[in-house]
Amino acid sequence: MSPLHSGADGGAHLSVNPVFARTGEREAVPKYRMREAPMQPSTAYQIVHDEVSMDGNARFNLATFVTTWMEDEATRLMTESFQKNMIDKDEYPQTAEIEKRCVAMLADLWNAPDAENAVGTSAIGSSEACMLAGMALKRRWQVARKAAGKPADAPNIVFGSNVQVVWEKFARYWEVEPRYVPVEGDVFHLTPDRMTDYIDENTIGVVAILGSTYDGSYEPVSEIAAALDALADGGGPDVPLHIDGASGGFVAPFIQKDMPAWDFRLPRVASISASGHKYGLVYPGVGWVLWREAANVPEDLIFHVNYLGGDMPTLALNFSRPGSQVVAQYYNFLRLGLEGYRLVHQTCQDVALHMSSAIEATGRFRLITRGDELPLFAFALNEDEKRFTVYDLSAKLREWGWQVPAYTMPPNREDLSILRVVVRNGLSHDMADMFLEDLQKALAWFDDLDAPMPHARETPTAFAH
Ligand SMILES: Cc1ncc(COP(=O)(O)O)c(C=O)c1O
Repeated sequence: MSPLHSGADGGAHLSVNPVFARTGEREAVPKYRMREAPMQPSTAYQIVHDEVSMDGNARFNLATFVTTWMEDEATRLMTESFQKNMIDKDEYPQTAEIEKRCVAMLADLWNAPDAENAVGTSAIGSSEACMLAGMALKRRWQVARKAAGKPADAPNIVFGSNVQVVWEKFARYWEVEPRYVPVEGDVFHLTPDRMTDYIDENTIGVVAILGSTYDGSYEPVSEIAAALDALADGGGPDVPLHIDGASGGFVAPFIQKDMPAWDFRLPRVASISASGHKYGLVYPGVGWVLWREAANVPEDLIFHVNYLGGDMPTLALNFSRPGSQVVAQYYNFLRLGLEGYRLVHQTCQDVALHMSSAIEATGRFRLITRGDELPLFAFALNEDEKRFTVYDLSAKLREWGWQVPAYTMPPNREDLSILRVVVRNGLSHDMADMFLEDLQKALAWFDDLDAPMPHARETPTAFAH
C-alpha cells in the first residue's frame, strides 16, 4: 500500500484517491462523438457520476409521482436481476412466474371476478399499459362492428380534458379521434353529466382517471359507470370503461377501502392500468394492465414467438426490458403486505394533509385539492396577489432545492395557474416542516420587494406532466 493510503502522516489528512492524475487521464474527452481509445472504468464512472450529480436531488423532487426511495434489500434484488431480460420467459421462468403472481395479486386487489386466472401483464409504465388497454378497446370495437356489418373506420375515445398526455398519444398513434370533455368552473375532471353528449356508436371506450395528474382528485368512477349502464339500458351504445389508475390504483385499495366501487366490482370496467413505479413504490419503470376476463383481449393482439425456446405468448409494445422492476414489485408485495402499503400511504396522506392545511393557514393561497384522495395537493395564489406569480414562487423554492411544478389547468380553465406538491414515501413530517419554513421565507422575500416581480415577456405557462 502506498504511504498516501496508509496514513503515513499520522492520520492528520484524509487519503484522497488521485483518480484524475493517472496515466492517460490528462486529456479532453469528446462529448458528442465516441472516442477512439478506451479509458479506465473508474475514470468513466467518475465522469458520468459527476455529470448526473448536476441533476436535482430526487428527495427534494415534489413534482414527480415516481418512486425516489427504496429499501437496500430491494435495491440489491434489482441489481441482481438487471441482467435478466423480462421477455426471456423460457430462460428465466422464475421471473416470469413472479410476474404472474403479481398479476394475480393485483387482480385480487382490484376485485377481478376470477383473480387466479386474470389476464394481465407488466409493462414499462402506465403509458405502455394504457396503450395496450386502448388497443384492446379499439380492436374489440372493430371486431364487433364488422360482425354487425357496420363501418369500423371512425373510432373515437372519450375522456376528460385533464387526461395525462399518454391518452393524447394513444389517440394520435392509433388513429382514434380523441373526444375531450372539457373541465368546467371548479370541476377539474370528468363527470358523468357532461360525458354522454360525447358518446356515440363509434366510441370504443371511456377512460376514467383514478387520481388526476393535475390535482390528484378522483373522477367519480361509479357514477360514470352508472351513466354508461343507463345509456346501454336505454338502447344507446354499450361502451366499456377503462380505469387509468396510474396513481390511485395503488392507493385506493389500501387507504380508501370504503369509497364507492371503482374497480372490477363494477361490471362496466373492462380494464385497469396502474404504475408500479408510482404508489406501487418501485423505482421506474414498471406498469401493470389487467383485463376483467380473457374475452376483453382480442386473441390477435397476442403474439406467439418460439425463437427463445418454447411457445411464448406476448402482449406488449416493447420486447426486451429488465426483469428487475417486476422482481422489486414482488419484493414490495411480500415485504409490505396490505398493512405495510396502508401504513406507507396513510403516512403520505397525513403529511399531505398537514402541509396543505399549513399552506391554507398562511391566508395567501386557495387549495384546489387538499390531499384527501391521492396524497398530493394543488393550490393557487389568492386572486388579489399581484406581487408575484406561481411561476415566481416555483423558481424561488428551487433556491432551497425544492422542485415544485407550476402550470396551467387544462383548456377551458387555462386562466388558472397552480402549484402541486406530490407526497411520496420518504417525505417525512420533518422534511415537510422544512419545506413549509422555506415557503414562509419565500413569501417574506416577495413581501419585502419594493415593487412586484418583473417578468420576461414570455412567462412559462406549461409543465411536462
Ligand atoms: C393519470 C396518469 N396516467 C398515465 C400516466 C403515465 O404514467 P407512466 O409515467 O407510468 O408512463 C400518468 C403519469 O403521471 C398519470 O398521472
